[in-house]
Amino acid sequence: MNKLAHWNFFYASRHAKNEGLAWGDLPDEILWKHLGNIPKGQALDLGCGDGRNSLFLASNGFSVTAVDHSSAAIRRLRLVSRKRKLPVETRRCNVCELTFPTRHYSLIVLANLVHFLGQRRRLRLYAAVRNAVRPGGFVLVSARLGSQWMWDRRWTPVTKREIEQAFARFVIHRFATEKRRECAGADGPAEMASYVRLLAAKQTDGA
Ligand SMILES: C[S@@+](CC[C@H](N)C(=O)[O-])C[C@H]1O[C@@H](n2cnc3c(N)ncnc32)[C@H](O)[C@@H]1O
Repeated sequence: MNKLAHWNFFYASRHAKNEGLAWGDLPDEILWKHLGNIPKGQALDLGCGDGRNSLFLASNGFSVTAVDHSSAAIRRLRLVSRKRKLPVETRRCNVCELTFPTRHYSLIVLANLVHFLGQRRRLRLYAAVRNAVRPGGFVLVSARLGSQWMWDRRWTPVTKREIEQAFARFVIHRFATEKRRECAGADGPAEMASYVRLLAAKQTDGA
């Protein structure tokens, strides 16, 4: 099964069980804790899944564009946003094929996405994100460290240093490694995993 088929299968099987969101209704904890620091405006949620973060941001006054390559995930996000009357613009596409506007977004969310991309693609994506955030705007990154469950053994795993270097010129609001218990697949066994978590703001002089 290729990666996209995996994700469609994952969301379809979760959604068959209930009418909710596959990753639960709660947004990323960094978002609700730091919401007051982030300037309202355009938000871009990359690898949004079925949209827990997008819906939270839309309900808190952001204009949200949510992007995921899984049609099953996007379908559920559209359904839920319609039901809740929350305007979320959705795009079903590969984040690596997006064209980004310059200095545009108040917030770009990379929540649990980049560890699914090869290193070259990640580095290109960080550069595009740095450029697309407006001065004073924020980026949130949550990424799994290590690669033992990845599809490809030759995978270059995400490191804390990679994220630190990518956003070295941003002002750090939070940067930590956290342990989490999670499942390896739709119904896989639970295991402990380490995540690097970053919230950082682009300097107002645009550096
Ligand atoms: C672990 S889920 C995280 C979902 C959401 N960000 C969250 O934290 O609830 C990873 C998501 O990234 C999406 N994804 C992975 N690679 C992608 C790519 N190249 N382009 C677009 N979406 C991608 C998957 O379809 C999946 O929905």
